[in-house]
Amino acid sequence: ACTTLTDPFGRTVRSLRMSITNRCNLNCIYCHNEGDPGSVREMSVDTIVNIVRAAADFGVDRLKISGGEPLLRKDLEEILAALPPLKDVSLTTNAILLKDRAQSLKDAGLDRVNVSLDTLDPAKFRMITNCKKDVLGQILEGIEEAVRVGLKPVKVNMVLLKDLNETEIEDMLEFTGKFKGDVILQLIELMDFKDVAEFHVDADKVEDELLDRASDVKVRRMHHRKKYIINGAEVEFVRPIDNTEFCANCNRLRVTAEGKLKPCLLVNNNLVDVSGANPEELPGLLQRAVSRRVPFYTERRDKNGS
Ligand code: 5AD
Repeated sequence: ACTTLTDPFGRTVRSLRMSITNRCNLNCIYCHNEGDPGSVREMSVDTIVNIVRAAADFGVDRLKISGGEPLLRKDLEEILAALPPLKDVSLTTNAILLKDRAQSLKDAGLDRVNVSLDTLDPAKFRMITNCKKDVLGQILEGIEEAVRVGLKPVKVNMVLLKDLNETEIEDMLEFTGKFKGDVILQLIELMDFKDVAEFHVDADKVEDELLDRASDVKVRRMHHRKKYIINGAEVEFVRPIDNTEFCANCNRLRVTAEGKLKPCLLVNNNLVDVSGANPEELPGLLQRAVSRRVPFYTERRDKNGS
């Protein structure tokens, strides 16, 4: 009965990816800060809920809450409890503060978590995150607790970094595999937001190795992403770079921590400010942002090598 948020390229927005804070208790060498570093203003609970509600009226039924580190907001449970009914509400977190919050998050309506964890090696963890405290134990306990309270499947996001963690896929699979289907490993191709050229790995080579070792490969329709089953553990490889399929299938709209609709992670000059908008203005502003959505990687751009 309702209209959808469909962009000029025929892509319908089904998912909101919302940053609720830029604050973080880590400082990862490669972090893209959701394309919005430096902003200190944060949306109120009401603003967040109004945006989600307006999007839900257009049929958007998925929400991913991210940061910064979203668990630094003490009112996250309040936000979750105030959301309209959605099909899938997930949280991307570094899990440092997850253990003690997992149950209350679940009770407030969170469905599942994605945990950003690039290494199980304390020295490497320190190098990647610039965190001097030993928080790995806490993170692992956070993952266990998330599984225990039913925030699953837990997806572990591992950004592949040359000479840092590229040889750790096996160890990570051994860790995630212990949880049977409850924890899934997602390898992520590094994107250049900071000066990280030296950390790029050969993604095709990694993909070949996964294929070699897999007992089974499933192709997910969305993004044509492949799932490999290795020693009973499931692993996916997310490769956005130069991936025309990735953009062609993109169905998400981002919201920055200070309340700006962001049509594409990789584009910064077309944001739509909704931080001070009234609920009745939101539908039009959502449509405006969606009308600015352009696939970043297209066949032409690929051939030009940019
Ligand atoms: N390249 C790829 N992925 C990144 N992330 C953050 N910065 C980058 C980057 N430069 C991903 C991490 C984290 C999620 C929030 O964003 O996987 O889990």
